[in-house]
Amino acid sequence: MDSKTISINKHSWDEASPRFYGRNPLPEYGPLAPTEDELQLLGNIGGKKVLDIGCGSGHSLQYMKNNHASELWGLDLSHSQLQAAGQLLIKDEARLFEAPMEENPGIPRDYFDIVYSIYALGWTTDLDQTLANIHSYLKAGGIFVFSWEHPFYNRVQQAGDSLILNQSYHQEGAYAHEAWSQPAIMQQFKVSTYLNTLINNGFMIEQVIEEVRLSEEDVEKHSNRWYSFDKASHVPTTLIVKARKE
Ligand SMILES: C[S@@+](CC[C@H](N)C(=O)[O-])C[C@H]1O[C@@H](n2cnc3c(N)ncnc32)[C@H](O)[C@@H]1O
Repeated sequence: MDSKTISINKHSWDEASPRFYGRNPLPEYGPLAPTEDELQLLGNIGGKKVLDIGCGSGHSLQYMKNNHASELWGLDLSHSQLQAAGQLLIKDEARLFEAPMEENPGIPRDYFDIVYSIYALGWTTDLDQTLANIHSYLKAGGIFVFSWEHPFYNRVQQAGDSLILNQSYHQEGAYAHEAWSQPAIMQQFKVSTYLNTLINNGFMIEQVIEEVRLSEEDVEKHSNRWYSFDKASHVPTTLIVKARKE
């Protein structure tokens, strides 16, 4: 775990928290990506114990609550994000931990039916340890579903009508995201690294999704300086993976 990076990101997320309040939570998996309503990756949530990794403002946990999950648990690095989540969800109905996903702050093992993470996993400074933790939290047969910006998306830049491949897809490691004004350090992993690290930690991969959705409504809702119809027509915006603990 890279404590210096985590401390920088904690500070940035505490500052940025209001900007991200309720942005693209479940049933959305990400900007211009298919939703849970369409994909049905989580199955029947009723009566299930669920854990949200990087739960942010708690809106995906609220979705789980509305779908009658029996227990709501969440973990996030940022104090401000968790304050927002604590206000959104009625006090005591969710167990929220302020901690990096690279560590287990006291989450039970072999306990959860569903662990999920919406646009948070690419912040981890230790993918292997994070996925080992997630594997340990799940019951045998439990599922892990995550979404993150597709690793090819930030390699390509739009320049007028052209798309330019301006960084190597092969290059992994820490980077400062262009769309962030404060210092915020994300981690670049290839699709194969995500999949192989899941497999090496005992997961069985069930589904991998790279599709985009470009209806007028999607484009109107999600377009901004980072996500555009033109770019998303050529490059996937979001990587979504469903895996199971065997
Ligand atoms: C885009 S937000 C997540 C949104 C949320 N999952 C939802 O569905 O509404 C990303 C979150 O990752 C958290 N984060 C960043 N680095 C982290 C780390 N190392 N461990 C845990 N959480 C982290 C941030 O504080 C932020 O709340």
